[in-house]
Amino acid sequence: MSQHILTAVAWPYANGPRHIGHVSGFGVPSDIFSRYQRMAGNKVLMISGTDEHGTPIQVQADKEGLSARELADRYNRVIAEDLTALGLSYDLFTRTTTLNHYAVAQEIFLGLYKNGYIFPKTTMGAISPSTARTLPDRYIEGTCPICGYDGARGDQCDNCGNQLDPIDLINPVSRINGETPIFVETEHFMLDLPAFSEVLATWLRGKQGDWRPNVLKFALNLLGDIQPRAISRDLDWGVPIPLDGWRDRGDKRLYVWFDAVIGYLSASIEWARRSGDPDAWRQWWQNPDARGYYFMGKDNIVFHAEIWPAMLLGYNGEGARNGTAGSLGRLELPSEVVSSEFLTMEGRKFSSSRQVVIYVRDFLERYDADSLRYYIAVAGPETQDTDFTWSEYLNRNNGELVAAWGNLVNRSISMAAKNFGRVPEARDLTDADRALLERSRAAFPNVGAELERSRFKNAVTEAFEVVREANRYLAEQEPWKIKDDPERQGSILHVALQVVDDAKTLLTPFLPGSSNKVHSMLGGEGVWSGMPEIQEVDEEGGSSYPVITGDYRDNARWEHRPIKAGIPLAPPARLFTKLDPKIVDEELDRLGG
Ligand code: MF3
Ligand code: ZN
Repeated sequence: MSQHILTAVAWPYANGPRHIGHVSGFGVPSDIFSRYQRMAGNKVLMISGTDEHGTPIQVQADKEGLSARELADRYNRVIAEDLTALGLSYDLFTRTTTLNHYAVAQEIFLGLYKNGYIFPKTTMGAISPSTARTLPDRYIEGTCPICGYDGARGDQCDNCGNQLDPIDLINPVSRINGETPIFVETEHFMLDLPAFSEVLATWLRGKQGDWRPNVLKFALNLLGDIQPRAISRDLDWGVPIPLDGWRDRGDKRLYVWFDAVIGYLSASIEWARRSGDPDAWRQWWQNPDARGYYFMGKDNIVFHAEIWPAMLLGYNGEGARNGTAGSLGRLELPSEVVSSEFLTMEGRKFSSSRQVVIYVRDFLERYDADSLRYYIAVAGPETQDTDFTWSEYLNRNNGELVAAWGNLVNRSISMAAKNFGRVPEARDLTDADRALLERSRAAFPNVGAELERSRFKNAVTEAFEVVREANRYLAEQEPWKIKDDPERQGSILHVALQVVDDAKTLLTPFLPGSSNKVHSMLGGEGVWSGMPEIQEVDEEGGSSYPVITGDYRDNARWEHRPIKAGIPLAPPARLFTKLDPKIVDEELDRLGG
């Protein structure tokens, strides 16, 4: 049965180009998942966009001497181009500065407000003594009052996972200029998170055995200390607060995280409008059979496993204070929060300022998208922090993509092209032939089951086992040595080509670009796996902005398909680029620190 699958991908901040650590968290995993789900016949809606409000944008704009909007325009485009180049198949990748997003964010605020889950409160806010500007929580650092970790941020401690209030930090300092902030009274709106603690706990306990254990444990742990949380900020850049007396104030905006998570919904609504069926989003949001999978790095768990579900519950009227659903109607909670851990770079934390970084753009200027995608799938931070090293990248590229998969494709097709000019017939199959064919067909349900559960490392490893088996088979059968039995030689090559075709299908979610090439080498017609593209779309009122979208009604299906004898074959082009070992030292020299 075909299911509606919402792939909700974390929204990158438009405050700079994204590096490979970022895309290993939210980007590549969500695309592997979505491509597989589409191949399995499900109706996928994959949405995201750039996160353009709040202090991360303001602080960088100040540094670059731009307005927040100019900065967001600049990096929205850079990021959209980079994610497109990586082949990430968004149905819509938009941005949080659209009129549609403002309207939806304000609607969610109002729904929560009417149901009594948002209340005003006078709190103490940090300001910088030298500039008199508000100092955002994230830009204050100090010692965690709960666990004693001394790199805690004002909003959250990454060590114990607790949400914090900057005023409680021990020895707070500004990360912007090192000074000690002062705290002054300011009025804000609070989201009454404790009103959701019971329903959140029930909801999370129902996810046992379903979510990655570390993610679930982290989320459950957050409920131990659940506090009301400010959802407005002293800032002029962001979504205005939609209440009389507040709407027109220049100095108060919704908290960036409050508006950003609403992006999943607003982007779905925007997608529906652009697709010509304005209600189509409801299939993914108001359909109890639909499933919603949220992809991100682990520093985002609190927002996706606690705050966003609480916002949805409150909008639905399903917290401790009850209430009624707002005008959009009742909205479904996430089915799974699929969070990755962190990637480090040659043993160190990514850091743009220290140049311990490789940006997606620079990577793709020198290497292929599929080789990065493969590395992230097989060696990325799926369930534990992992380290990117150039030497591992080189070894996997040369050993696995070039020598194992590329070579299998190349020698099977070139031998068949040279000796037969077409896909040869399979005559009497031997046990060895049958065993390999069987192995390759059995991979479909096995790899599929891993992909359904976002176990990408297992999935790609299993798919690669088929490639290795096929290489072993060719080494044993030695079709190149058969001079006087074209029938047997043809049978071996037929079997090999069949397994190449199967493996190309199994590898499509990970390596869509190269699978498309293998598809045409084997005489396939039409688009195998659809690729994203950038389109300029109109905003109401005349301006335009780039979005990522694509036509993914392609031919890729998650199934073994018999190849047809007689299809003409030409000598194949190279599938992957073999890297010179000297790139390791070159790249290490580029790294700063
Ligand atoms: N911009 C945030 C980050 O990079 C992620 C936001 S995800 C959202 O950490 F969906 F909530 F927007
Ligand atoms: Zn702590």
